[in-house]
Amino acid sequence: MWRELAPVGRVRTGGYRRQPFTSAERETVAWFRQECAARDLTVEEDPYGNLVAWWRPEGAAGDAVLTGSHLDSVVEGGGYDGPLGVVSALAAVDALRERGHVPAVPLGIGVFVEEEGSRFGIACLGSRLATGSMSWESARELRDRDGVAFGDVVAGGARSTLVEGVGSFVELHVEQGRDLVHREVPVGVATMIWPHGRYRFDFRGEANHAGTTRMGDRRDPMLTFAGTALEAARIALETGDRATFGRLEVSPNGTNAVPERVTAWLDARAGSEEALRSVVSQIGSSASEQATGHGTSVDVTAESESPEVRFEEALTAEVSRRSDGGSWPAIATMAGHDAGVLSAAGIPTAMLFVRNPTGISHAPAEYAAPEDCLAGVEALADSLQRLTR
Ligand code: GLV
Ligand code: MN
Ligand code: MN
Repeated sequence: MWRELAPVGRVRTGGYRRQPFTSAERETVAWFRQECAARDLTVEEDPYGNLVAWWRPEGAAGDAVLTGSHLDSVVEGGGYDGPLGVVSALAAVDALRERGHVPAVPLGIGVFVEEEGSRFGIACLGSRLATGSMSWESARELRDRDGVAFGDVVAGGARSTLVEGVGSFVELHVEQGRDLVHREVPVGVATMIWPHGRYRFDFRGEANHAGTTRMGDRRDPMLTFAGTALEAARIALETGDRATFGRLEVSPNGTNAVPERVTAWLDARAGSEEALRSVVSQIGSSASEQATGHGTSVDVTAESESPEVRFEEALTAEVSRRSDGGSWPAIATMAGHDAGVLSAAGIPTAMLFVRNPTGISHAPAEYAAPEDCLAGVEALADSLQRLTR
């Protein structure tokens, strides 16, 4: 499966561009459908492009167990964030069949669209729509960098029924840090997700000539942005939170002109919701103060926020059971996941992590060794077997 997926959407840097509803991402979805057809799994799609492939043996009844992840990537992301959960789910179904296991309840493999929010801006857009935690009315007008609306690329409209009847969700994911490397184990389970959010900072000034405008006469929004980025890093370093400006749009973006406008996106994460509010408000206040000094202005808009998630204890304990009687270690994560959205919607949820030797994620160096991926498949298959007995 990896051999087939590896070239899809890979660019010169070795990273992936699998933005939702672009040809590369659609190719991964077509690949998923083929893999499901080869396994006699029935694929259902909701009006937003989310998919669930069902293994529903005759007589299977009761609350379904869902696994899976996403196939989209960040811009030039790694190959494992998302696809590892989908490939492992398909491999776990194969392992269960080899073991002769027949699920007593329906077992589904979910693929949620736009998990990364790399095209339409909202993280976990697909799972938010599937669970009803975001409305179609607010989603349809979201626009990508070229002005294309989400409502133009999906049918939308009707409510999704895809996760109705799902009693638990187990998402396997590549680790996005080196905790498991230090613990010297291939697999771990997640305890919680840090609260996090995305905030758009619109800095405005006055466009002017780079040569003829005296330094003291400028109203340069780039300076306000630069000062704000430095302050954000200083504040987050002091509080132990995370603050990242990773995306910037400059207008008109000319070398020999003072810009008129700079739009920057802050991704902020903290150990509690109160700490998140505090770090964002400190960065916002610093931006306003600096704007006053530079004769510019700044407006801050919260584009999406994700609350703290604590994964369900009983399910997590079940998923952490090793076949040798021990248990996989529990670790917290600062990354967002569809599992967090399903958990917030009241579906008992747990996550398995697979060791990533580089610790790097959202970048081409993201990696998981084949033997660790196989340990992840075993752990997932063991969990699914117990949960669907
Ligand atoms: C998703 O991977 C996120 O944490 O932004
Ligand atoms: Mn992911
Ligand atoms: Mn990600």
